[in-house]
Amino acid sequence: NFRAAIFDLDGVIADTARLHLQAWRQLADELQLPWTADSEEKLKGLERMTSLEVILRGRSVAFSEEEKVALTEYKNHRYRELIKSLTPADLLPGAGELLHWLRARRIPIGLASASKNAPAVLQALEIADCFTVIADPTKTAPKPAPDIFLAAARELAVEPGQCLAFEDAAAGVAAIRAAGMTAVGVGDKWALRGADYLLAGLDRFEPEEFFRQTLPNPD
Ligand code: BG6
Ligand code: MG
Repeated sequence: NFRAAIFDLDGVIADTARLHLQAWRQLADELQLPWTADSEEKLKGLERMTSLEVILRGRSVAFSEEEKVALTEYKNHRYRELIKSLTPADLLPGAGELLHWLRARRIPIGLASASKNAPAVLQALEIADCFTVIADPTKTAPKPAPDIFLAAARELAVEPGQCLAFEDAAAGVAAIRAAGMTAVGVGDKWALRGADYLLAGLDRFEPEEFFRQTLPNPD
């Protein structure tokens, strides 16, 4: 029985993992860098500069630190363009329903997203109010380190062992496990094989099995 839920954002709540990949793909094409099928799974959940290093691979040494910063800014500019058109229709199936189910039962909800764009995305999806806390990715070590999940639990004042956390990325599942939390992997079975539970989507999640209902006071 869990006392709090902690969510990743991109690829779990909203279909934005696709938009991050689209923006990185454009950069890779412009730099004429190879883009392989496994680039996509590998990039998920990684912080901005780490993502660039994955894309550059052996070519990394050809760019100065300033140039790399400029490349990440270019990607972020593209991504900001792409999220301009987000609406609540971009919530992934089951996401809005689950957030409202938890909220109706006063179960604390945390966000543990690596994205500095998370607040803007939550606004566009009209779900910012659902979150009790939003952990700050600029103040924590990036996934697969457990820090952002631990920060969310600390702010929620719930022990890590009492948190159920949702992720679509291998780096995120590793972070949850390292935090001592229970991981629900949402998406690719093989990439998320380290998770405690695996689901094709949040619409398959049955919250009653994980969060005990608060029983009415018999008096
Ligand atoms: C994660 C995404 O949520 O946030 C990654 O899965 C992304 O693809 C990372 O690189 C950082 O996001 P941002 O918006 O700060 O560049
Ligand atoms: Mg994600």
